[in-house]
Amino acid sequence: MRYLSFILFAAGLCFFSCGAPAEKNASGIDPFHYEAQKKGVGANGAVVSAHPLASQVGLSILKQGGNAVDAAIATQLALAVVYPEAGNIGGGGFMAARLSNGKILALDFREMAPAASRRDMYLDEQGSVIPKKSTRGASSSGVPGTVAGLFESMQYAKLPFQKLIDPAIELAEKGFAISEREANALNNQREEFNQYNSSASAFHRDIPFKAGDTLIQADLALTLKRIRDNGRAGFYEGETAKLIVAQMNATGGYISADDLKNYQAKWREPFQFAYKGHTVISMPMPSSGGLLLNQMLKMVEDRPLAEYGALSPQSVQLMTEVERRAYADRAQYMGDADFYKVPVKELTRPEYLKERMKDYAPGKAGSSIVTQAGRIQAKESEETTHLSVIDKEGNAVAVTTTLNDSYGSRTVVAGAGFILNDEMDDFSVKPGAPNMFGAVGGEANAIAPHKRMLSSMTPTIVLKEDKPFLVTGTPGGTTIPTSVFQTIVNIIDFKLSAEDAVNIPKFHHQWLPDRIDIEKKFPDSTRLALQNMGYALSERNSIGRVELIRILPDGSFEAIADSRGEDSAEVF
Ligand code: GLY
Repeated sequence: MRYLSFILFAAGLCFFSCGAPAEKNASGIDPFHYEAQKKGVGANGAVVSAHPLASQVGLSILKQGGNAVDAAIATQLALAVVYPEAGNIGGGGFMAARLSNGKILALDFREMAPAASRRDMYLDEQGSVIPKKSTRGASSSGVPGTVAGLFESMQYAKLPFQKLIDPAIELAEKGFAISEREANALNNQREEFNQYNSSASAFHRDIPFKAGDTLIQADLALTLKRIRDNGRAGFYEGETAKLIVAQMNATGGYISADDLKNYQAKWREPFQFAYKGHTVISMPMPSSGGLLLNQMLKMVEDRPLAEYGALSPQSVQLMTEVERRAYADRAQYMGDADFYKVPVKELTRPEYLKERMKDYAPGKAGSSIVTQAGRIQAKESEETTHLSVIDKEGNAVAVTTTLNDSYGSRTVVAGAGFILNDEMDDFSVKPGAPNMFGAVGGEANAIAPHKRMLSSMTPTIVLKEDKPFLVTGTPGGTTIPTSVFQTIVNIIDFKLSAEDAVNIPKFHHQWLPDRIDIEKKFPDSTRLALQNMGYALSERNSIGRVELIRILPDGSFEAIADSRGEDSAEVF
């Protein structure tokens, strides 16, 4: 199904409507005439990502004989070019995969605190949080992990790296047509790009961007070529590393040459649990995603959700209260498990989760003053992007990456052409002080040198009868685990179509602030019922952009791109 609104907003713009003939580049893609596809069914493979060109790149790799890992690598690299607000080489992320031989993988390429980091580095002498120091400029950046993650995952790829990076290089070097949304997004950031950069970059200029403009990223193309030619050293050492360190020295950042050289992506034990006859595979620490998903799904498992119905007052209330309890635990107990003993076993024990729900009162709003983190017997931070891929062998890959919020730190590494993350804000910069997502934390997520900041990213694969059933994930900061939770419940409990499971309105509760965030199209009757129960509601534009692949009973792949953005599903 072609996605009409994308065509409509581009109507009247030359690159979509002047009848210029389509011209494919060396990668078989036309970067000046493209449109988002919201849904597709195919038997040979599927790629869903936040940008039509990136999904096309991924699909072309599958068609050339690459597997899902190859396609995920190429799609990530393409997103680093065509989706600069979140696609990146200056940030980090996580990959969950289930290979056709049954092996499951969880790769952590989360950013890391530089060696020079200190617990109170974002506080002034009075102990107050210095505004924007952890969210803007080079001071907010953690050591990027994306490139290390790409090379670590190469051991499961089939094609040579050059084949996977060439489409991205071509898109950076020769450019692509930006959409109206992208033009507006860049224009909205112009002031901050000026403020946090001393030299010009592809992303800011004096004349406003407009839909159809060609975005050429010459410096980024050179960086990508250094990565192509020198592997991970093309980023973490040599010219690129020098440019990053020069940017740090010029604009008050902390990342050193040693931080870059020593950065390692890490293989983690995938987070795994059962839900109603399915197996859910997701990310362990330093992402809270898998653990939160486990807590939330298990707290609703024995309740009659299907009877209540999707978006009914009963189901929304129950799911809200479950979200509240899980996020209270997040604030208290979750952080990088290499630095802090996260009591995963205790937090997922059936008796513990049952106890957590003991004071749940149907029809009456809970309270985050009353509900605190659970007591356990322990022995001792919105713009992100997700892609889901599957190939005909059944290799399933879910990758979520981020710069943190849109365009990260707003700092472009001068001469290297890529935006640095502002991920340091995902640490708890001061106990109890909310980060940009309003999330609070304490000791578990305090800053320490070389520590990874707590994430919410939740790339997830659900198996049914030991075969891939869902491949999914979403951006959205702290709303990520609740969006994935709701998508899974929408399919398994409410039996919604894949399209509805992704696109019906979402809601989110994260303990603090004590309110339910709801999307604009949230049903009026449920709003009213929740208000009558005593809940505070807060409307927001959108929650999450879920990319979902559902494997149908005949083995074919149904791919759904979220209708909230220009996300696109490519299948064959
Ligand atoms: N920066 C968003 C996250 O990692 O959850």
